[in-house]
Amino acid sequence: MIVTPYSAGCGALVSGIQLATLSDNELTELRAAFAEHGVLFFRDQDFPPAQHLEFAERFGSIVVNKFFKATSEFPKIAEVRKEKTQQTNIGGGWHSDHSYDDIPAMGSILVARTLPATGGDTQFANLAAAYDALSPLLKKRIANLRAVHSNEHIYGENGVYRHTDLAEQLGGMDRVGDATHPVVITHPESGRKVLFVNPGHTIQFEGWEFTESRTLLDELYAHVNQPQFTCSFNWLPGSVTFWDNRCTWHQAKNDYQGQARLMHRITLAGSALTAG
Ligand code: SIN
Repeated sequence: MIVTPYSAGCGALVSGIQLATLSDNELTELRAAFAEHGVLFFRDQDFPPAQHLEFAERFGSIVVNKFFKATSEFPKIAEVRKEKTQQTNIGGGWHSDHSYDDIPAMGSILVARTLPATGGDTQFANLAAAYDALSPLLKKRIANLRAVHSNEHIYGENGVYRHTDLAEQLGGMDRVGDATHPVVITHPESGRKVLFVNPGHTIQFEGWEFTESRTLLDELYAHVNQPQFTCSFNWLPGSVTFWDNRCTWHQAKNDYQGQARLMHRITLAGSALTAG
């Protein structure tokens, strides 16, 4: 297995393996690479849905997304679908999957099934590197804070998706909710400190006024969204990405209007987060 940094501060490209037929030793190596890099990219994978599921179950336990439609054959595989007639895409803004759950998802494994001829990259941000680069003053300011994460403003009755052409393919409107988490966590595998807030789901700091929270959150988001912590993955047939939701953000670019894109996603369950 060859693991090469994908960009200066974000992700790694893994080559020389097939995810569908990993040996136990390769799986151990892959776990180490996942803990080190936070997001892994794979090319030229022969990875039908049954093997996608099998790999996910070898790596961890699956948590089914409450809002996305599943594939008809595999209820644990969610579809991230945009038809060529649709304008809105799923996950078009920076977020970490399931941070609104009491126990946020550990990872997500995304497989390309139908790709537009151009566009449709997924962008990632490295939240451990971003934390390390914060000023000592800012680190001190956020050290003991907790933040509220929610999905209601996205998937709820009046959420942003409900008034778009995505609404029909989403369910779970009645299952919205929120959770609070430390703003700085210690990553359970790498032991690194990570900035655990994201623009998609973090609403405000616990016990703070909304506007006061927004000011500091916007400052943190602007810090993360810099070239040294981010990268963009261009999908090709056979591409797979596997990211850790505890230490990355991602967003799907919506720059392929008039073309279809279908991805299959499996989300892996995490464990309770520990303050950093
Ligand atoms: C997601 O947010 O999981 C979707 C990412 C993508 O479609 O690229």
